[in-house]
Amino acid sequence: MWGSLILLLALTCGTLSLDKLNMCMDAKHHKTLPGVEGKLYKQCSPWNDNACCTANTTTEAHDDNSYLYNFNWNHCGTMSDKCKQHFVQDTCFYECSPHLGPWIQKVDQSWRKERILDVPLCKEDCHTWWDDCKDDLTCKTDWHYGWDWKSGTNQCPQNAQCKKWTDVYPTAKSMCEQIWSKSYLYTELTKESGKCMQLWFSGTNPNKKVAEYYLNKGSGTHHNLFLVTLLLLSVTSHIGLF
Ligand SMILES: *[C@@H]1O[C@H](CO)[C@@H](O)[C@H](O)[C@H]1NC(C)=O
Repeated sequence: MWGSLILLLALTCGTLSLDKLNMCMDAKHHKTLPGVEGKLYKQCSPWNDNACCTANTTTEAHDDNSYLYNFNWNHCGTMSDKCKQHFVQDTCFYECSPHLGPWIQKVDQSWRKERILDVPLCKEDCHTWWDDCKDDLTCKTDWHYGWDWKSGTNQCPQNAQCKKWTDVYPTAKSMCEQIWSKSYLYTELTKESGKCMQLWFSGTNPNKKVAEYYLNKGSGTHHNLFLVTLLLLSVTSHIGLF
């Protein structure tokens, strides 16, 4: 009886961590399960082999004011192409990545049930994003909240002036962490560390190993607690408390 219970628990634990390594969040455009796509558009094509996005989503991700979120990148004049490419990449990463499991959280929002929180970004990706946007303008620090949506797309609210990017975000860290209300965590880790997530990559998706690293790090304590509990249970049953 104990044997089968333990087996069941072990199987459940195993399945749960497997899912976290390869899953899609419950949000606006994500597929239910990740899988092969094959024809993802331009900057999203690195996810062809395994993706939470559809081809349609990736085409839309490259357009201004696309039907995805009606989001207007050009709220303080036209955003430069070199800056915009990072927002396209960020959208590909958000919509397509099947390896965000360790950082997915439930949220109470009308347009999604889950979000990402504190995804550790590689230093290079955060810095090139900030460097390429340095000469652009924006009127808000957190782009998730507080826009004027009356026109159907986001416009700067009345009290918000367009300012130099560097006045709004003095550092790369402040931009990466604040722009999507802590979806990303700034790190000093480099791509070769294998411990940070990459927005930009080619070839095999390097982020699976990173997610695996963080899952194992977290589950260590769970496994220990689990073993201690089992030991206590068997001891107490032997001395007749059960
Ligand atoms: C994607 O799908 C939406 C909704 O069905 C549609 O309105 C849009 O035109 C499609 N976009 C592309 C590029 O096929």
